[in-house]
Amino acid sequence: MIIKKSFKEENNIKIFFDENETTKKVKNFYNQNPFPNYKKNETPINIMQKGDKNFILKQIAEKMKFGKNILEVGAGTCQLSIYLALKTRSKIFALDATKKSLELGENFSTKFNIKNIDFINANIFDDIFEEETFDLIWCSGVLHHTENAYLGFKKILKYLKPDGYIIIGLYNKIGRQRTYLNKLIFKILGKKTLLKIDPILRELNKDPAENKDKLVAWFRDQYLHPLETAHSYIEILNWFKKNKVDFINVYPKSIFDLNDDHNFFEKIDDLTPFQTIFDQLNLFLKHSAEGGLFSFIGKK
Ligand SMILES: C[S@@+](CC[C@H](N)C(=O)[O-])C[C@H]1O[C@@H](n2cnc3c(N)ncnc32)[C@H](O)[C@@H]1O
Repeated sequence: MIIKKSFKEENNIKIFFDENETTKKVKNFYNQNPFPNYKKNETPINIMQKGDKNFILKQIAEKMKFGKNILEVGAGTCQLSIYLALKTRSKIFALDATKKSLELGENFSTKFNIKNIDFINANIFDDIFEEETFDLIWCSGVLHHTENAYLGFKKILKYLKPDGYIIIGLYNKIGRQRTYLNKLIFKILGKKTLLKIDPILRELNKDPAENKDKLVAWFRDQYLHPLETAHSYIEILNWFKKNKVDFINVYPKSIFDLNDDHNFFEKIDDLTPFQTIFDQLNLFLKHSAEGGLFSFIGKK
């Protein structure tokens, strides 16, 4: 038994819900425009091609190939979970508070006969899984939209097996400065200017008909979100330390990691406070186009 709480099921989606005001607000926001959404006529081949270019996703698929239980928390419209379902023979659980987002993922899976995913409509703070259930938990772009990111981290960590991996993706305090500046420019000069200065919007806008829903989803998620926080590397290292999670690696690659390859599942030396400052500056200078998101992987 993986799920310990009772639920109702609608169109293949398992629905749990204990909601508070914050979750309601965030859920309503994403119900208007599910994130990241699909482009018109998206196929499994598109998802696999795009996923192969996603560093973390590709490495998870290689590491978790057979017989694992993988939980994606805050799966949105589920492309990442669908990629893992297509590429592995593991069981994927895609959890999100926004039912409309899960419905898009579920429709896609049904259309293309993808069977190894369970869709779970729940709040991160609901206690729905048995402890020590998953081999890997991935939560990217989600905890910074909750009322207490650290509490959310502790909740999901309980579901991780000993020796399991947890991957957390969060906005970074330094890395996100470019987005804060863009927000200001948007307020003063409007959306047309934003379409020129935000690299993701600029790229999507090359084919606005094809990317209509994705364009709106990125714009709203980055510039109109009702709740977001930003975090430092030191903060997450402390979360890991306090909860006996061994720090393994970071994305983008640490500038102090002198290996040629970046193997996300291979442990690098612990980062010193001094090193974290330089890595975060590197994130700001070289990777802030994606909103200043960074990911840490730890092992329980
Ligand atoms: C920015 S999207 C990220 C989607 C996906 N992880 C990705 O990287 O493409 C944030 C997602 O977190 C979900 N979310 C926010 N608060 C949540 C909560 N308390 N419990 C579960 N999901 C939540 C939202 O519904 C939304 O789909």
